[in-house]
Amino acid sequence: MRLFLLFVTRLGTIRTIMKKLFMVMVISAVFFVGWLVWHNQQDAGAPGNPNAAHGFDKKQFSLNDPASLWVVTNKQRTLQPASYEPADLVTPDVQLRLGRNAEEMQLRKAAATALQDLFAAASGDGIELQISSAYRSYGYQKNLYNHYVDVQGRETADTQSARPGYSEHQTGLAVDVEPTSRECEVEACFGDLPEGKWVADNAYKYGFIIRYPKDMQHVTGYIYEPWHIRFVGTALSSEMNRQRVTTMEQFFGLENAPDYE
Ligand code: DAL
Ligand code: ZN
Repeated sequence: MRLFLLFVTRLGTIRTIMKKLFMVMVISAVFFVGWLVWHNQQDAGAPGNPNAAHGFDKKQFSLNDPASLWVVTNKQRTLQPASYEPADLVTPDVQLRLGRNAEEMQLRKAAATALQDLFAAASGDGIELQISSAYRSYGYQKNLYNHYVDVQGRETADTQSARPGYSEHQTGLAVDVEPTSRECEVEACFGDLPEGKWVADNAYKYGFIIRYPKDMQHVTGYIYEPWHIRFVGTALSSEMNRQRVTTMEQFFGLENAPDYE
């Protein structure tokens, strides 16, 4: 009888333990499923992930502030103020067309660091690049634009050179690159050279986009400029590359800017 009672008591204990074990398993399963859902959401938001459908926040940075990584300037969107000067210009430690003290060889710090990485990677693939033109102040752009107007006439100049206060070069985030040989310097044929093809294929990995793609003059206002790359950071450059959207206007749903107002 005693033995029987002990056996029944033990049975009760075993049942309690089983219940507790079951509870622990259910709670673990709930936590695991929750973690899985959370993890997938994190991945979906990661730039460059092919599953990222709606995870990219297009409002992360201002499109209007001239100091913003994502500022969009075009013929419909002047820099404000037009006299804007970046605060953190540096000369990248790369090969330059002009002397190291030339203002035009400078870029904003983040863009300069990214360009150094881009040029180093290019060099590793046997592609030797240099800066042709980077930061241009309002005054410099004014002289340059007026020079093009004198040589080409205003209509043609407007398809290739921004008026002062409208140039990406004034933001310190844009840079014209060229082979160290200077072959096809600021000419469309740069796009057909190994150097131009390398830039087209790889710039996005370092946070740059080709800002004036082929056949997009109706959107950007400018003819094809395969040499002009614009730093926007890798999050945006990777997302644009993933979506195969080539202009900032289209990506951000801005108006086309073929002409000045
Ligand atoms: N070539 C580009 C459009 C500029 O002048 O800023
Ligand atoms: Zn340029």
